[in-house]
Amino acid sequence: MENKKEALDKLKKEMEDDKELPLYGQANLVFGEGNSEAEVMFIGEAPGFHEDKFMRPFVGQAGKLLDKLFVLINWPRESVYITNIVKRRPPENRDPLPEEIEAYKSYLKKQIQVINPKIIATLGRFSMNYFLPDFKISQSHGKGVILRGKIIYPLYHPAAALRATAILKELEADFKKLPTLLKNYDNVKAEAKIE
Ligand code: URA
Repeated sequence: MENKKEALDKLKKEMEDDKELPLYGQANLVFGEGNSEAEVMFIGEAPGFHEDKFMRPFVGQAGKLLDKLFVLINWPRESVYITNIVKRRPPENRDPLPEEIEAYKSYLKKQIQVINPKIIATLGRFSMNYFLPDFKISQSHGKGVILRGKIIYPLYHPAAALRATAILKELEADFKKLPTLLKNYDNVKAEAKIE
């Protein structure tokens, strides 16, 4: 049987060949990277300039902060999986359009299905609202929500934390809760009585 790594490689190839995807031909595919067996998946919004250039998620300024946050909790970056909702850079880093989010959805869904993480940590409001449409980031960050057997854990976007020290403090505090959240995953799930 195909393992997770092979399934992800196949999915990436499918995406590369899908000419119907918005932003095809305008920007590089930034599929995602990390441990295909990861228990925690981090999902951002869309690639920026550096991500497009290197075809890797979170390698610019926001990515450098993300790297520091992983150091803070002693999680090697390679132990998790990192990707975005929209997998090509929107021009001038504009917000992803609803139709772009929709078009990339089936691939993200498959990517999540393959990895099957326990926790999905969303970075920023676009990613949070993908899973939890009516939630507000200021109220919901750092509070896990169970959805279809996984914990959705909303986090501020690291780029927002780079702009405001108060947000950075919140993001650090929320990050520090991740190891315990993962350790307690089964209990949290059982308490919520969700399969
Ligand atoms: N911001 C995102 O949302 N994703 C990246 O990969 C980089 C910056």
